[in-house]
Amino acid sequence: MTEAATTVATITASSTASLSTIDNLFSITHQFFNEYRITIFVLTGTMMAAWLYNKLFVNCKFNASTQSMQGKTVIVTGGNSGIGYETAKDLLQREARVIIVCRNMDKGREAVRQLCSEIEFNKENLRLMQCDLCSLESVRNFAKLYNTEEERLDVLICNAGLAWSPDIVTKDGFNSIIQANYLGHFLLTNLLLDKLKKCRPSRIVNVSSGAHRSMRSIDWSDAFTQFKTFRFWGPYPASKAFQILSSYKLKHDLLATEGINTFTLNPGWVWTSIHSVLREALGFSAALLIYPILRILKVPFAKTPKTGARTTIYCAVEPRLEHSHDLYFDNCTAVKPSSLCTDDTLANQLWKLSAEAVGL
Ligand SMILES: NC(=O)c1ccc[n+]([C@@H]2O[C@H](COP(=O)([O-])OP(=O)(O)OC[C@H]3O[C@@H](n4cnc5c(N)ncnc54)[C@H](OP(=O)(O)O)[C@@H]3O)[C@@H](O)[C@H]2O)c1
Repeated sequence: MTEAATTVATITASSTASLSTIDNLFSITHQFFNEYRITIFVLTGTMMAAWLYNKLFVNCKFNASTQSMQGKTVIVTGGNSGIGYETAKDLLQREARVIIVCRNMDKGREAVRQLCSEIEFNKENLRLMQCDLCSLESVRNFAKLYNTEEERLDVLICNAGLAWSPDIVTKDGFNSIIQANYLGHFLLTNLLLDKLKKCRPSRIVNVSSGAHRSMRSIDWSDAFTQFKTFRFWGPYPASKAFQILSSYKLKHDLLATEGINTFTLNPGWVWTSIHSVLREALGFSAALLIYPILRILKVPFAKTPKTGARTTIYCAVEPRLEHSHDLYFDNCTAVKPSSLCTDDTLANQLWKLSAEAVGL
């Protein structure tokens, strides 16, 4: 046999072999679809329905107010990521001067780079400042610098927060979630009050959570340490309930006399990096089950950070809210928080204890 004939025979044999492999593949796929077609239809249908539900109802289009914020200065704590990032981005587009407050300057610089690449805005309007809410010293240093260097403060958005944390106690001796979400912001707000008064009508917006509703009572002996907490959510609901209770008192004390209005809100379930420490916090076996379930539920039910920021932005910019007595918002609508969060005695007691804790 010639060399050419050998080559042709080899090619024919190999192409017949690959054809039969393809045939086999087709037949296996065909068999698989035949056997599992109902399951495949149900799964595909469910996924499409979940995706559609999310697009049509959870992250649906929204005609936001076009209120300009030109000439106003807004602080957004935790503005380097998630809901805070989207809030800062929106406010920059409304021409506000935005101060992004972050605990990690590298992450902050990355957020600034991302903002510059995503939107057009006056670069003079953006400032990045460092503050770790889990350190009272850091909060005091930040407030001092801010009060010296910045002319105005029209809206203070207390957005930064932790839902899970591997650190239990901060160097100030408080539970880290309580300090990041509540005590740090409590001190910050008090140290910036004079600036807010100077710029009246001004606003304080506290990003709370629907989780506050699971708080039924307050154990004052453990309020800021939370050593006795066994709830699945840990100290998170308490930190969010404290935010609303102190906002309730602030609104009562400042709206009529000082022209500073205070709002709190629930952004809804938003898929952000706040959930990323969840796996660690849950422990290996629980994470193996709970985290995948959350990832599946996220497809129909979770908001994007942009949608999640809508209620914060609404509370910060909506002119009709200037004299509003509503305290708590969900999906840009006023709703009632739990009764525990509008109790005068509890609000006064919390205020007194918080002021002592942070050294005011
Ligand atoms: N996502 C939700 O489903 C949901 C639901 C209800 C309420 N919320 C509330 O929404 C707010 C924003 O959360 P998110 O979902 O946007 O989460 P995120 O993307 O993790 O943003 C949280 C921000 O807070 C900052 N932060 C945490 N601890 C801090 C500290 N000690 N000092 C200064 N900054 C600190 C984080 O800084 P790093 O980037 O350095 O970590 C980050 O910038 C939180 O108050 C949260 O409780 C969220």
